[in-house]
Parts: sequence; C-alpha cells; structure tokens
Amino acid sequence: MNSTVVLRHEGEIALLLIDNPPVNALSRQVREQLLECLHAALADDAVTALVIACEGKTFVAGADIKEFDLPLQPPQLPDVLALIENATKPVVAAVQGSVLGGGLELALACHRRIAERGARFALPEVSLGLIPGAGGTQRLPRLCGMQVALEMVVGGARISGERALQLGLIDRLVADQLRAGAIALAREVAGQPPRRVREQQVPEYDPATFSERATQLLRKLPGQEAPPLALEALEQAARLPFDAGMAHEREVFIARRQSRQAHALRHVFFAERDLASRARALGKRAPTRPIEHVAVIGAGMMGSGIALCLANAGIPALLVDTQEQALQRGRSVVEGYFQGSVEKGKLDAAEAARRTALIGFATSLERVADADLIIEAVFEDLAIKQDVFRQLDQFAKPGAILATNTSYLDVTAIASATTRPGEVIGMHFFSPAQVMKLLEVVRTSQVAPEVLASVLQLGARLGKTAIAVGNCYGFVGNRLLAVREREAGFLLEEGASPQEVDRVIRSFGFPMGPFELRDLSGVDIAWRNRQARELSEAERRCDLIEQLHAAGRLGQKSGAGYYRYEQGQRRGVEDEFVSDLLAEHRRRRGITPRSIGDDEILQRCLFVMINEAAHLLEQGIVDSANDIDLVWLHGYGFPRYRGGLLYHADEVGLATVVSALDGWRAAFPERGIEVVPLLRRLAEQGGSFTRG
Ligand code: 3HC
Repeated sequence: MNSTVVLRHEGEIALLLIDNPPVNALSRQVREQLLECLHAALADDAVTALVIACEGKTFVAGADIKEFDLPLQPPQLPDVLALIENATKPVVAAVQGSVLGGGLELALACHRRIAERGARFALPEVSLGLIPGAGGTQRLPRLCGMQVALEMVVGGARISGERALQLGLIDRLVADQLRAGAIALAREVAGQPPRRVREQQVPEYDPATFSERATQLLRKLPGQEAPPLALEALEQAARLPFDAGMAHEREVFIARRQSRQAHALRHVFFAERDLASRARALGKRAPTRPIEHVAVIGAGMMGSGIALCLANAGIPALLVDTQEQALQRGRSVVEGYFQGSVEKGKLDAAEAARRTALIGFATSLERVADADLIIEAVFEDLAIKQDVFRQLDQFAKPGAILATNTSYLDVTAIASATTRPGEVIGMHFFSPAQVMKLLEVVRTSQVAPEVLASVLQLGARLGKTAIAVGNCYGFVGNRLLAVREREAGFLLEEGASPQEVDRVIRSFGFPMGPFELRDLSGVDIAWRNRQARELSEAERRCDLIEQLHAAGRLGQKSGAGYYRYEQGQRRGVEDEFVSDLLAEHRRRRGITPRSIGDDEILQRCLFVMINEAAHLLEQGIVDSANDIDLVWLHGYGFPRYRGGLLYHADEVGLATVVSALDGWRAAFPERGIEVVPLLRRLAEQGGSFTRG
C-alpha cells in the first residue's frame, strides 16, 4: 500500500505530511494513516508539538467524494479530528491552496492554523447536497461567530487568506516558506496547553440580523434541501453543548449522503470534471494554437459581451463594426460594464481601467489581420454571415481561426464562404456572454482537430463550460429548447394557460417557464425561427406565435407577449388578451379545452426533450450524455440538484418515458411523435444514459 501520510521529525516537532494527489482528499487510506501517524507522534515523548501539512499545490480539498456512494468506512473523520483536538500536545495546521470541506474541518480541529497567501477557505458541502460532516457547523461559529459561519456553511462563501486572518480563522499568514513557518509556530506553542475550539463559547450575536440574512440566503437557493438543514445544524451550535451539536450534524450528514439531491449533485460534479479531462486529453493529442489576440465582429450586445469576456480573462480584443454608431454603442456597453463593476465593488478602478484598455475599437474589417481568432457576432442571417466570412477570408492571417457565434445556422454553410473551411468553427455564446457559463463549440466535419482543441482550451481560459457539439439545427441547447417550445405550444392549444405551464416548470426548479422565457428573449425571435424552419402540419396549425407577433406582442421589449408588463416590471401579469386569443384559437380549430394536470404538463415538456436528446446521442452530435446535461445546466437553468436532463430521465426510469411517449403518439397521431430507437433500446434492456 502506498503511503499517503508520512511522519517526519524536525527536531522535537513531528511533521505529518499528507500526500494524496491530486487534491489530498481525505480517503479512507488517508484517514487510517493519519490516525496511525497521530498515535505514533503523540506517544513519542521526544515530540513536543505536531504540524499537519500537505504535499502538492493544495491542502486537503475535502472528504473523498468518490467514497460517498460506499458504506461509511472506519475510521470516520470526526473521530480522527477528535483525536487531534483532544491531543495534549499542540497541533498546527499548515494550509495552502484550497482548504475546503473536510480540509477546513481538519484545520479547525487543530490548535493553531497558519496559511500561505493565496489559500482559499470554504465549506462547499451544500453544493454537493450535504452539510458539513466533521464539525464545520460547530467549530466554525465558535471561532469566527455565527454570522461568518452562516455565509460559509449556508451560503458557501469562499474567503481569502487575508480575510481568514482578520476573522481569526487562522493565526498567521505567510507569503512563502509555509512549512518552516508552521514548524516555528509549533515550537512557539510547544509546552502551552492546546487551544481547543470546542472549548470556546460561540460569540454573542444578534439573532434578528442572523435570521434576516439566513432568509435572504435560503431565498437564493430554492428547491435545495441541504441549505436549510445546514442552517439548522449551525443554529444548534448556539443552543447545544459541543458534543450534542456534533452528533446532530453527523446524523444529518450521513442521511444526506444517500439523498437524491446529493447523488444528483455528485453526478454533476463528476460530469464537469469528465468534460474538462476530455478537453485536456484532446489538447494533448492535437497541438493547440496560441490565441493571444482576438477580433470580434459586430458590436451589438453579443459582440460587446464576448469582448468583455475576453478582457476579463486578460485577452486583448478588437471590437469591429462597420457602422460607426453601432461601434459607439458597443464602446458605451464596455465602459458602462467596467464602471458598474467598480461601483459594485467587484473591481478596483485600476483593474477596471486595465481591462477597459484591453478592448480596442475599429470600423474596418481589414483590422483583423493580426488576430489569432476572429469571432463573428453579426445579425443571425446566413447570407449576411457568409458575406462577412468571405471578407474575413481575405483579411485574416494564415492559421487564424474563424468562429461564428450563430445560434441556429449551419456552420458548414458559413464555412463554405471561405477558402479555409478547416479553420472555421462555431462558438455559440449565451446572452449575456460575460455572465453565462455555457459555450457550445460547434465542430463541422471539416474542422481541423487543433482548431477544436484550441477553442476548447480558450473556453476554459474564459471560465466557460465549453462543450464540443456537432453541427445541426440549434446544436444541442436550442434544439432541445425548440422541442420543449413546440410541446408547450400544444399544451396551450389543448387547454393549459401560459401561467400553468410556467408555474409547473418553475416548480420543477427552472428559474422561469417557457413562456416567461419567450417573452424575455422575444416573440419575434421565435417567430423568425419558425419562418426559417420547415414546420410539420401540426406545428403550422399551432400558430400562436404568429398571432402574437401579428398583434405586435413581442414580449418584454414591447410591454406585452404571453403576459402584460407594467412599466419597469420584469414580472408579467396575466392578460385577458392572451386567454381570449387562446379561446378563439381553440374554437377555430375545433378543440375542446381540457384541464391538464401538473404531472402531464411536466412530463410532456421534459419527455420530448429526453427523446430529442437520445436523438442527439444517436446522431453523434455529442460525445456523452453528460454533455447534454451540462448544456442545459449551464445555459438554460436546469436545476443542478436534479442532475441534468438525462440523469433525471434515468431517475424517472426510461421505460416510463417510453411508455408516456408511446401514449402521446397514439393520442396525437398528427404530431409525428416517434420514440428514438436508442431510447427504446435502452428502456427495453433496462439500460440508462448516465449510469455506468
Ligand atoms: N474528492 C475526490 N476527488 C476530488 C475532490 C474530492 N473532494 N476534489 C477534487 N477531486 C478530483 C477531481 O475529480 C479531479 O479528478 P480528475 O483529474 O480525475 O478529473 C481532480 O481532483 C482535480 O479536480 P479539478 O479538476 O476540479 O481541479 P481544480 O484545480 O480545477 O479544482 C478544487 C480543485 C477547487 C479542489 C475542486 O476540485 C473542488 O472544488 N473540489 C471539491 C471540493 C469539495 O467539494 N470539498 C468538499 C467535499 S465534501 C466534504 O468534505 C464533507 C466533509 O464535511 C465531511
């Protein structure tokens, strides 16, 4: 068995070194060996104090998440930590990098803490559907107060080394030489009685301020089970003796490990890492091209947002628009954004000025000549985009990557306007580009592997979840959205109201329902998409979008769409115009409206998407079911605690999905519902999309 913890001696100081790459997670082996080393050091009369430190870039980043699906294995972390805390010799934690979850709890059980600058402290358990399970909710408030503990335990706040020092979470902060600093501190405190956090009282706090903030935090985390439980455990710290608080925390933690939400959130955690490791593997196979200068064509909201993303990542960007006025608008968007960041305290003035200066402006396409990558973000029209690409082909230097930000159009058709289709790729940013995490990287059949690898790598530099997808109508995200929109339209036709559909989708956990979303993005956009696409007879007949469009109801921007918007309000109110329009539509089509239950609304919206997702997999548009889940998690507000669309499909059971789809096929033969063979096969074989 490899050693994951070694015991060394620095004179009379015992140094316990954890070495469990990549993040020193507290696996069973680490816990066992830590316990052994502790016993040895504590029994050794020559040892006067102990230091616990880690090899590598980081201190312990938490319990080993891979073990959460297994039965609990001894020794359990709280027992190891109790041995440390109750030791009669002082124990110093020497921390660097990510001091997270069980890692922070380990540090809290030590008697002194010294950190290297750059260390970050957090209890991210709630983001995994858990609560801290080794004293985080009991020791942290004793050391730093209830208010700080609330931000960290419930809100998942990360704090810097400097702030940790101010808060008394650590005793010392050093710029370098962490281990030497820790040994020196151990020598200073050797012989003194250990300072045990468990023996401290929770500092006085104002319960009213505490509960006001707790309510605010919980409101931001709707649907999640762990945050209120974490809050309850934290409140016990102020009420119960330490051991009783610990017992309560542990009991809840153990129960949470097996909860559905915790399973779902673990799925997402590993899906995100799997995506990143596939991108890294591709980068190793295909040498990437350096991207140091980028040009963005089109200074609208999207182009300006992309330029902001680049500047935020420290990459110089040239924003090009042949219309002087449009360019000026882009310039004000850029300046306004950075000014706003300073006002909100997100950036200091010098940093904002540095980032603003990274963005240049030009009206001539010829200016793209120096760019390693050119991202086109002009009007969504094939002929216009082809014209831009024809010109870019003339001006771009050899080896430059040409990207289009189209959200629906055929990237191969755009590439065909150039003499270098192997260098052309899709980069589908989501609006607002400087905020949204998702980036669909659209690969055509001709694109060079190093172009794909380079753009995926750039996506990571921009802090995006960059997902490679094939070239098809709407790619992954919008293709799935289109089927949900179509089904939601049919639901209205059959008798549901926009409010009912939106309420059901919101209560599933989406931030908004399909009609609220359409009002936000614009009924005219949906109308334009319908014009550009071949529609089935049933879709053509369900022409509610055309009717709203004809009435000038374009959504929020025109003050009315599916809802009516009072001046300055973003939340719409029910509008008789729409209920009358629906009633008249049903009458003309000879449809007798029926009352549709919430379960049916939810299933109809989700199951058609699951079927379409199976189609995407079957067609090889994505490499893995996880990628579909990540697209909707990061771009469309799918609730993270439900694990993603296909994870949810597996939870519901694929046989249930198929049988419902077959039922609707029989009920609505004109809609052409066909269960995709992959989905049917998996359902028949008892298979799944996301498990094993
Ligand atoms: N357990 C097991 N594996 C972990 C892990 C953990 N806690 N944290 C990270 N890893 C693995 C990742 O899966 C990845 O593996 P791979 O290379 O095979 O894909 C590898 O470590 C590197 O991770 P990242 O790619 O995420 O590396 P980064 O440098 O980008 O980020 C990090 C490092 C900030 C530590 C990030 O991985 C992270 O946030 N990890 C989760 C931390 C966490 O949630 N800790 C709390 C766990 S719950 C707990 O401690 C319960 C306690 O209260 C009892």
